[in-house]
Amino acid sequence: MAASKVLVWSLLLFAFSLSSFAQVTTNTIELGSSITAGSSNSSWQSPSGDFAFGFYPVVNGQFLAGIWFDKMPERTLVWSANRDDPAQIGSTINLPLNGQFVLTHLNGTEFFIYNGTHTSSALMRNNGNLVLQDSSSKIVLQSFDFPTDTVLLGQVLAMGQELYSNANGSVDYSTGQYRLLLQMDGNLVLSAFSFGVMLLEIICARRHIDLNRIKEESEEDDLLLPDWVVSCMISRNLEIVVRHDPEVLSDFERFERMAMVGLWCIYPDPILRPSMNKVVQMLEGTLEVGIPPLLQDQIQMCNN
Ligand SMILES: *[C@@H]1O[C@H](CO)[C@@H](O)[C@H](O)[C@H]1NC(C)=O
Ligand SMILES: *[C@@H]1O[C@H](CO)[C@@H](O)[C@H](O)[C@H]1NC(C)=O
Ligand SMILES: *[C@@H]1O[C@H](CO)[C@@H](O)[C@H](O)[C@H]1NC(C)=O
Ligand SMILES: *[C@@H]1O[C@H](CO)[C@@H](O)[C@H](O)[C@H]1NC(C)=O
Repeated sequence: MAASKVLVWSLLLFAFSLSSFAQVTTNTIELGSSITAGSSNSSWQSPSGDFAFGFYPVVNGQFLAGIWFDKMPERTLVWSANRDDPAQIGSTINLPLNGQFVLTHLNGTEFFIYNGTHTSSALMRNNGNLVLQDSSSKIVLQSFDFPTDTVLLGQVLAMGQELYSNANGSVDYSTGQYRLLLQMDGNLVLSAFSFGVMLLEIICARRHIDLNRIKEESEEDDLLLPDWVVSCMISRNLEIVVRHDPEVLSDFERFERMAMVGLWCIYPDPILRPSMNKVVQMLEGTLEVGIPPLLQDQIQMCNN
């Protein structure tokens, strides 16, 4: 139990320091509202404009009903209601007067995101949580309770909840093969490899970084995040990865340790990848995090 808390905490830690959701204006979605895939009214924004919910274009001219970071040039999907059944252009999402929340496919088939009658309004919150609330502002449904592939600040995985990676990065958002499961016994279960990739993504806030900036700062083909992190470590310039974030820089040692844990998890030789138990201990600080052998060799080569 304690172990799982540590892990969740670590997932959220840097997401927290990298996001500032300060505004408090409201953008309530009233009953009777609707949006249409492929139209100019295809999403609802959070008051700060950081997140939006609506129709997210994917390949083949199709759309997912989902939530994405809206302020980044590369808008990144963090949640979706229909990842395995994309919608056609012209499909709609309605918050009808009866309080349901419905995705209506172009062919008329209805997919109920919420099939109750208690909703009196909805809100895309600044932290990325889409919330349906009743007339006394009690939450009747929130996207944070149904994570798909991403955990955001303030979103806590409950027992029995699971996340699945995407089938193919940002090409295919359907349910992939890596699963993160918080078992009923409180253990988080995940292969170290997929955790490593996720950890690097989260602590480096890769999704928050303008791709153009990465191109400027990195040497040629370092656009793959792990490669970039490794090459920064070899040149002893890891700060560059998070140099846009003073808060992370002020606790740089912790960032460095987490980055190293991420690299252990994706170590080319699977036998040397740590168990998730060890990963948790490393993140906790109860187990020392050494430098992975290959990396050590490369650093040495570089210094000679
Ligand atoms: C978008 O929706 C708003 C309110 O729901 C409406 O006032 C506006 O005319 C719509 N715009 C378009 C282009 O349909
Ligand atoms: C309508 O389209 C949706 C989305 O592609 C699909 O899941 C559903 O089976 C279709 N319904 C019918 C009746 O063809
Ligand atoms: C939605 O709720 C109604 C009323 O409770 C029920 O009859 C219907 O089967 C539900 N539809 C789905 C798709 O769950
Ligand atoms: C993922 O998408 C890329 C780009 O379309 C493609 O080249 C690659 O083969 C895909 N990978 C898998 C595993 O489908």
